[in-house]
Amino acid sequence: MTMNSGQHTISFILDDEIVTIDFKQEKLSPTLTILNYLRSLPNHKGAKEGCAEGDCGACTVVVADLDEENKLVYRAINSCLVFLPILHGKQLITVENLAKKNGRDIDLHPVQQALVDMNGSQCGYCTPGIVMSMFALYKSSMNPSSEVIKDAMTGNLCRCTGYQPILNATELACSKNEPDQFSKNQNDIISKLKEIKSQKLTVQIITKTQKYFLPQTLADALALRKKFPKTIMVNGSTDIALKQTKKFERLKEIIDLSVIRELKCFSENKKEIILGSGLSLEAIKTKVSEKLPALGNMLSVFASKQIRNVATLGGNLGTASPIGDTIPLLIAYDSKIRLVKETSFREIPIEEFIKGHRETDLRNNELIHSVIIPLHQEHVVRFYKVSKRRDLDISTVSAGFRLEIINGTVSDICLAFGGMADRPKRAVLTEASLFQKVWNAENIEMAANILENEFSPISDARSGSGFRKMAAKNLLLKFYHETL
Ligand SMILES: Cc1cc2nc3c(=O)[nH]c(=O)nc-3n(C[C@H](O)[C@H](O)[C@H](O)COP(=O)(O)OP(=O)(O)OC[C@H]3O[C@@H](n4cnc5c(N)ncnc54)[C@H](O)[C@@H]3O)c2cc1C
Ligand code: FES
Ligand code: FES
Repeated sequence: MTMNSGQHTISFILDDEIVTIDFKQEKLSPTLTILNYLRSLPNHKGAKEGCAEGDCGACTVVVADLDEENKLVYRAINSCLVFLPILHGKQLITVENLAKKNGRDIDLHPVQQALVDMNGSQCGYCTPGIVMSMFALYKSSMNPSSEVIKDAMTGNLCRCTGYQPILNATELACSKNEPDQFSKNQNDIISKLKEIKSQKLTVQIITKTQKYFLPQTLADALALRKKFPKTIMVNGSTDIALKQTKKFERLKEIIDLSVIRELKCFSENKKEIILGSGLSLEAIKTKVSEKLPALGNMLSVFASKQIRNVATLGGNLGTASPIGDTIPLLIAYDSKIRLVKETSFREIPIEEFIKGHRETDLRNNELIHSVIIPLHQEHVVRFYKVSKRRDLDISTVSAGFRLEIINGTVSDICLAFGGMADRPKRAVLTEASLFQKVWNAENIEMAANILENEFSPISDARSGSGFRKMAAKNLLLKFYHETL
């Protein structure tokens, strides 16, 4: 397998113009975040750094990309966590692009006007980020429900205004949803993006200290993986970017998988659903919430919309975090992971893929290709998450449970927990105590006592070991009551 010769620059649209960046010539790091790039420009300082870890939303910008039908899709993202090369072939929209000059006056965008009308801003530090989340919703949803509005605004913290005026403003703006200057200009943007995207070459940015590859096809990604087996891979970069923004590590070599179409595959039939590793968690939430409600529920409390817009399933599995939320649930679904190398695939159960604390069975020349989730109508599958707050928080304890009862007795059970061991793990002793037993209060009480001693969780900033044991026990009791 050979790789195409590659190009050294990236191109994207900013202020309606194509911007081309030659990192080497301009002495820029390819892992420069979009936020730091914007802050280096004289006229794009609206996006702010509040936390540099995806929690506050002050850095929110909108990225518009072409979908399968060449229509523009607008997504809010945290610019503090995303490296500049991901903009290749996309439009970057910042708060400065929203208001229009009208002679000596300025016409605010409807979302900005609504924020003024509803008194949704005080000190204003959070406001550019809030405006951009409102704008992404304005461009993608007509008359959204209050649930959809809250979900779109979850990733934006505000210390002064109180959230109600902001939510009211979002509702007001999105209820009108009239064409704006972006609607009028969209044909021009679409043709510019098509022009950039017509080059299907791997972007290869090689500076004195860093190498950054952005392959456009799976074949090119696998060729790079073979050539540079130790190189860090990123997709949404919501985990990896923290190494740079919080630990100040220099990321020397990166293979960015974020534009590979083959990894964004999705298929379903009566027997199974296949989710590509490169699908964003938000795309998965939209596609599967009906067929796999437990996965939909889990994703509704996973991070924020800005994070889910870029974070991927492959990235969550790749981190193999003991508190990665997809893992216990995928174990409960009895899912398999499909790994790809050069010209062959291998499939193994998710449980076997996670080998230890942040350790996977991924081999040197492999990538995570997809996840296969079997559809069993007869099973009940649930997900539970215990965290300090409901939204935008990682789990203290999480659980994915599967149950099948035939004639009143348990014929199949899986109790997988996150946050209870060095990796997401099944409570095998507890499961065994319930297998082929009657699903009743007495047996559950007995099983809960076994569960209490089955794991030795750590105590950390999130909670003590005792709390985790109690939480796990209570989740089992909750599951019992919900499935009675
Ligand atoms: C504010 C915030 C909130 C968060 N909330 C949650 C939460 O609620 N629950 C939760 O579980 N996590 C949470 N996370 C963690 C993170 O967002 C998730 O783990 C996410 O799924 C990572 O996906 P990514 O595409 O961004 O991964 P990346 O950072 O791009 O990559 C992560 C790892 O996966 C590997 N990888 C990625 N794709 C592949 C592939 N195709 N093949 C092989 N390896 C691959 C990479 O090499 C890397 O080691 C949060 C993070 C932040 C910053
Ligand atoms: S700076 Fe806080 S989310 Fe980016
Ligand atoms: S208006 Fe001050 S932080 Fe939101």
